[in-house]
Amino acid sequence: MIGTANGRPISITGLGCYVPDRVLSNDDLAQMVDTSDEWIMERTGIRERRVAAPEQAMSDLALPACEQALEDAGMRGADLDLIIMATVTPDMAFPATAAILGDLLGATEAACYDLSAGCTGFMYALAQAYGMLAGGLAERALVVGGDVLSKILDWTDRSTLVLFGDGAGAVVLENVRGGGFLGFELGAEGAGGVHLWLPGSGSRHFDDPETFVKMNGREVFKFATRILVSSAEKLLRECGRSVEEVDVYVPHQANVRIIDHAARKLGIPQDRIVVNVDRYGNTSSGSIPLALADAEAEGRLRDGSLVLMTGMGAGLTWGSSLMHWTEQQERIAA
Ligand code: UT7
Repeated sequence: MIGTANGRPISITGLGCYVPDRVLSNDDLAQMVDTSDEWIMERTGIRERRVAAPEQAMSDLALPACEQALEDAGMRGADLDLIIMATVTPDMAFPATAAILGDLLGATEAACYDLSAGCTGFMYALAQAYGMLAGGLAERALVVGGDVLSKILDWTDRSTLVLFGDGAGAVVLENVRGGGFLGFELGAEGAGGVHLWLPGSGSRHFDDPETFVKMNGREVFKFATRILVSSAEKLLRECGRSVEEVDVYVPHQANVRIIDHAARKLGIPQDRIVVNVDRYGNTSSGSIPLALADAEAEGRLRDGSLVLMTGMGAGLTWGSSLMHWTEQQERIAA
């Protein structure tokens, strides 16, 4: 699906992120499985990742990110009327982690639900929240993306273990005076679902002992390098923008080779790409908001900056958005 904004401008007015304290280096992993810092760096660009403590669940990682995003937006939980949590590692199947967060944040007026779209979850959630605001159903939405993949990895499988990390990011969406989202492009190729999946996690294989992530890395790699380019190109065309106009490119942080390939094909110069996969690995739904937060901390998101974000992941799914970043003074007071 593809669509462009045609109503009141809606933008991100608050941003927050959180990663657990524990750092696992490539050398640490080489003590656990047959791998090396050299292999991981060369094939993925990942140097280290963060791993949650045994007692930490999704809401523990998401809460500080949400609080930071609300503070950044100058808002309280009670002001929210929507919370969407994008994750494949909720605290439990139900209640939704979004509802747990809503309670902790004092968001008594908010509709709260979780959304599952693999690593693309944050992009899907962003588009949904945008749609709720554009349709007049909500005025202030909190979109949270995060995962605690360390809990569902096979810690003896080197082909997945080295890639992933834990983390979360959150954004507040509101109506603004100008700028904001220009459009979204989302999609799914369900036939490729078996290339990245968690058998034994639902009602079809509920008695299956296989409760770890399984991945066909080569197939996902091929999908990623194709889809990051085609989705961005489609959306730019639909929005009447050219790649030369993109100031900040925030791709899903899965593998530096995938990012470099997409940027090269699209023609986006290195200094416009946000990369933090070296420090966090692939944090799934946390990846894009964590990268956005890094870009903001580095002063790369200026008023009016054209920001292109593209995610991809299990499903197989993908999603892109194009927006003009909005500075505080352009925001409409609630
Ligand atoms: O959000 C989406 C999440 N998933 C992804 O983004 C994954 C996309 N795929 C990839 O990033 C890459 O396919 C990988 C990084 C997973 C693998 O890189 P690759 O260049 O495609 O390697 P490969 O799978 O072709 O494996 C090459 C060799 C194999 O050995 P043989 O068969 O050539 O003897 C693997 O067994 O590397 C071996 N290998 C490893 N060696 C050391 C696989 N994993 C490791 C490892 N350490 N961790």
